Amino acid sequence: MSESTRLPIILDCDPGHDDAIAIVVAAAHADLLGITTVAGNAPLELTTRNALIVTDLLGLTETPVHSGASRPLVAEAKHADYVHGESGIDGADLPEPTRAVTSADAVEFIIETCRATEGTWLVATGPMTNVALALRSANDLAGRLGGISLMGGGSFGNRTAAAEFNMWADPEAAAIVFDFGGPLIMSGLDLTHQFQATPERIDLVRALPGRLAGVLADLFVFFSGTYVQRSDNLTGAPVHDPCAVLALTHPRLFERRHRRVQVETSGALTRGMTLIDERGLRERPDPNCAVQVGLDADAAFDVVVQAIASFSH
Ligand code: BDR
Ligand code: CA
Repeated sequence: MSESTRLPIILDCDPGHDDAIAIVVAAAHADLLGITTVAGNAPLELTTRNALIVTDLLGLTETPVHSGASRPLVAEAKHADYVHGESGIDGADLPEPTRAVTSADAVEFIIETCRATEGTWLVATGPMTNVALALRSANDLAGRLGGISLMGGGSFGNRTAAAEFNMWADPEAAAIVFDFGGPLIMSGLDLTHQFQATPERIDLVRALPGRLAGVLADLFVFFSGTYVQRSDNLTGAPVHDPCAVLALTHPRLFERRHRRVQVETSGALTRGMTLIDERGLRERPDPNCAVQVGLDADAAFDVVVQAIASFSH
């Protein structure tokens, strides 16, 4: 397994199959200060319920789960049942959650936690509504963060020809995040499509002992099934969201380029697009983002498998 760096993080997510795996990797390899939920793949009640179920399966009884925004800043809430099913994590026999949310104020939790623990990283794997609201409500937050690592964007789209789902769902929030001024790492579709849950990789999860591994293998099968059915060129679902966690915990797995990235909020055809400045001109604007462009996919999946194994008995 490649070397891991344990950083304090808050995971802001919309579980979602790949968000669930991101929770596992974060719990295994980061100092996970809390989980905040946002509407995205499914309505907020369901993404929150799913986060609680996953933390139960991992035995993370001490990790707070705070629910946040039930809709984007400006756009209407629209979900992704065509990928994740009605529940947000269809495909496995899941238990009822055993606990309730710690609070319904994710934004306040983000602000207070980042004030208490300087250098906290925000990892955003859903629409960036909570993160943007926190940055907008607390002027000091940007300067206190270690940075923001997000899954979203890319040089092509998946929700529209131009826009990736997380960006498309709340482009105004994403634009605030890309302008925040501190360290920013983007794991977009160019990267995540190189990291697929192939049948062979899912078998590695299935071979682990215990209930958690069986549940996660079933979730992978459902998630990959919808992707493969809907695509011409994928042999498994892109394992998008764990990349935003691994970017911090296992940075050596990745290749990055520093670029200026801006989010389109007004284009009739391009709303939610991330415009990555690839011009080779000396006068191009300074970079605001480390764009992850490549990874060692087998080694990264090994980290995922070992993370699941660390909770399996
Ligand atoms: C992103 O959208 C969601 O469906 C996934 O959870 C991931 O965060 C990929 O476009
Ligand atoms: Ca997600």
